Amino acid sequence: MLRKIFYSIPSSWRFWVRRIIFLPEDMLSRRSSLMPPKGLIYTGRGDFIGQGNAYVDLFIKHGDLKPNANFLDIGSGIGRVAIPLSEYLSNTSDYQGFDVIELGVNWCQQNITAKFENFQFKYVPLLNDLYRDNGDDAASYKFEYPESHFDFACSVSVFTHMIPTEVENYFNELERVMKPKGKIFATFFIINEENSKLMQANSGFNFNHKLDGYYLMDATVKGANVAFEEEYLLNEIIKTDRFKITTKSYGHWCGRDKSESFDFQDVYIIEKN
Ligand SMILES: C[S@@+](CC[C@H](N)C(=O)[O-])C[C@H]1O[C@@H](n2cnc3c(N)ncnc32)[C@H](O)[C@@H]1O
Repeated sequence: MLRKIFYSIPSSWRFWVRRIIFLPEDMLSRRSSLMPPKGLIYTGRGDFIGQGNAYVDLFIKHGDLKPNANFLDIGSGIGRVAIPLSEYLSNTSDYQGFDVIELGVNWCQQNITAKFENFQFKYVPLLNDLYRDNGDDAASYKFEYPESHFDFACSVSVFTHMIPTEVENYFNELERVMKPKGKIFATFFIINEENSKLMQANSGFNFNHKLDGYYLMDATVKGANVAFEEEYLLNEIIKTDRFKITTKSYGHWCGRDKSESFDFQDVYIIEKN
């Protein structure tokens, strides 16, 4: 219900609502310079620092991320993974993040790039109806990085807000900019037999609008939450003749026990051939 109300507010207002709700707390609290004010954290709820640390631990443990890696952060938000990465990656590695929300990119440039020159953030004005009212088409965006440059990429809670033509384009671009054997840590909402059964038994988080190979949670705001049929995701979007899935961990969004999952969302670790 709360989610429905939130999605009904125009995207440009949602940032202001959040800013105003947290203003008193942000004015009174003491924070480190590498912690954004709560009112600016437009990317989700919960323990921002704890979640970022947990993702970087997964990158290292299950994706074999090394300190000298060139790293691409797709949808870098307001630095949730860049902040802990700034402590892990060495100053010879090239970290590049990009996002469609200028506020997050500006905060990261002012607070992370200012301390770590090898961390760069790019604002790319692409349309996503959850986050913006206008912009260019993500389905034809060409990543502005050289070929075979990155050892590791992540897309945390981004493909869950993008439709198939856009995600397919991002995997085409990843094929181009990743080094051979480079790893991609990506989260999704995946519809397969087990997740479907769990989802139906758990009324909290449902995808009721079925389209061709994918599902929407809210038919009026496409980017709100998007789920992919697993076969469609593997064969039509990621395409397993160019990437192999090295790890799958299905999430607890559909009601699975938390102890069985890496994350709320479904996680694939994918290696470029
Ligand atoms: C739920 S937030 C997650 C942000 C960040 N990855 C994190 O884990 O904190 C989703 C992010 O995806 C960004 N986004 C939406 N559409 C995008 C696109 N087409 N390309 C890149 N980023 C996008 C949003 O602006 C937002 O920052």
